[in-house]
Amino acid sequence: MARITASVYTSHVPAIGAAMDLGKAGDPYWQPLFKGFEHSRQWLKDNRPDVIFLVYNDHATAFSLDFIPTFAIGTAAEYQPADEGWGPRPVPKVVGHPELASHIAQSVIQQDFDLTIVNKMDVDHGLTVPLSLMCGQQDARTGAWPCPVIPFAVNVVQYPVPSGQRCFNLGRAIRRAVESFDEDLNVQIWGTGGMSHQLQGARAGLINKEWDNRFLDLLIENPAGLAKMPHIDYVREAGSEGIELVMWLIARGAMADVDGPAPLPKVNHRFYHVPASNTAVGHLILENAA
Ligand code: DHB
Ligand code: FE
Repeated sequence: MARITASVYTSHVPAIGAAMDLGKAGDPYWQPLFKGFEHSRQWLKDNRPDVIFLVYNDHATAFSLDFIPTFAIGTAAEYQPADEGWGPRPVPKVVGHPELASHIAQSVIQQDFDLTIVNKMDVDHGLTVPLSLMCGQQDARTGAWPCPVIPFAVNVVQYPVPSGQRCFNLGRAIRRAVESFDEDLNVQIWGTGGMSHQLQGARAGLINKEWDNRFLDLLIENPAGLAKMPHIDYVREAGSEGIELVMWLIARGAMADVDGPAPLPKVNHRFYHVPASNTAVGHLILENAA
């Protein structure tokens, strides 16, 4: 059967992608941030999955405000990097896994989560920046991401957005779906977006280090308790875009300890850095026991 072996969490600030694409990753401003991912890049090489299930948010790029799916699963064979106004990022196309994605859609919908099925879409910085952070720069034509990726888009841009509790429960359903897939596959689930940031209005630039680090603690140790936190707390404490963090609860809900007798996942890596553009960057790697 397929198994979720680890979960990875990271912010997705678009300026990080631009810094890599423009060769600025070694600049003094960016160097401390990328240093925090050196270990992670080696870890991913050493623990290369067969498939990454990548939970992210589209920023009115693929969906616009004409269609706003709450949860959308990519079942396509491939996805192109989106043009977000400056041309597409010079990174490889994302190869999908239609068989596993279709199986997860079938299973999760039958577990009463209504997913939107997406057979064609471009993927924006929400998906490509986490890949770049974890895999390093890859040439758009000659390079490739290490494995197929299933994009899973969550609406955290236009209210109403899903609750942390619903995201956490959805993660559980995703784990059951993966474990009912016949083929032996090593699957990682990534939760992306966050941490504290507000991009507009009087509180633009808001960063709350204490709250962010408490969020990381609770995500590791007490995700079921964290799932009960209401939206207003994210927005008040972590800024309007801090709500992206509910996506991390999907990945955490898919880990082995959540329903069963498994121990807490092992913290392989933890990193926190301020600032990247307007945003606090948080990063975790959690591993299930073998
Ligand atoms: C920034 C952060 C985001 O999450 C985003 O989607 C766009 C911009 C920023 O901090 O610049
Ligand atoms: Fe964002």
